[in-house]
Amino acid sequence: MRSSAHSTAAADRPPSAPVVDLPEHPGQTAAARLPAIIDAIAERHRPSDKAFFRHLRALPPAVGRDPKLLGDLYLVYQAAMHATRAAVYFLPHLDSPDLRKRKLQIFIDDDGLPGGDTHHHQLSRAFQAIGAACPIDEQAFDDGTELTRHLDARTGAFVRLAKTLYARSLGPWCVVETMSDDWMHALASALAIHFPGIVNEPYFADCFDQGVEERHAAEAIAVTQAVLERRPDLLAVTVEDATAMADALDGLWDAMDEIVCTAIRQHADTGPSC
Ligand SMILES: [Fe+2]
Repeated sequence: MRSSAHSTAAADRPPSAPVVDLPEHPGQTAAARLPAIIDAIAERHRPSDKAFFRHLRALPPAVGRDPKLLGDLYLVYQAAMHATRAAVYFLPHLDSPDLRKRKLQIFIDDDGLPGGDTHHHQLSRAFQAIGAACPIDEQAFDDGTELTRHLDARTGAFVRLAKTLYARSLGPWCVVETMSDDWMHALASALAIHFPGIVNEPYFADCFDQGVEERHAAEAIAVTQAVLERRPDLLAVTVEDATAMADALDGLWDAMDEIVCTAIRQHADTGPSC
């Protein structure tokens, strides 16, 4: 796994950083090359391989059901998800009438669920149902200005980076959507060790039943390919930003692992070692 120091440094990389050098692939368009490139980044940064999920699963029951631990995990995870959901509204290059329609569907999937529900509120209810004591008010999930004051350095860096990079290229969106099904399953199965009913919470159940994240991943790649057909020169920055976002995601799982490891140290000496 990458070190947290590396992840933090990557997450704080300025948006003006030089783009990556992509080797030439004669005969393959930028659009055709994108899916394999994003898959390779996602494979290198696969969330379910991270120590956080392993440590969360292995927690002794008394630690795994601690409301403070659950609240601290909720804050970090919701802050990161909130940052990406908010940043999607600023995705670039999607201003044609057809692409605006597809963009709108993405907004609806997050913020226009039946009955006026949203992914944010589904996630909030899922953690409330298991007794999480969220340390901040729901209204503190804002544009990042106030929110980052409540976050550790790595999560704060993720929130700032999502806001910057989602508005610059479509790469961060592609890689986050490509990896989200993996981490949703990893999170649900780890929490289910301590709370078997959590998999029935709509945040997880609706997503898994309807294959929402696989659909989002396919749509993000397809939309970005449509853009690259017209603008192949955008491939390098797309890949650069996707890589930076994947590095920042590593930092997010490291931040959540630190919360779990701190809880282990504060309880009895019986937990897994970190
Ligand atoms: Fe998604």
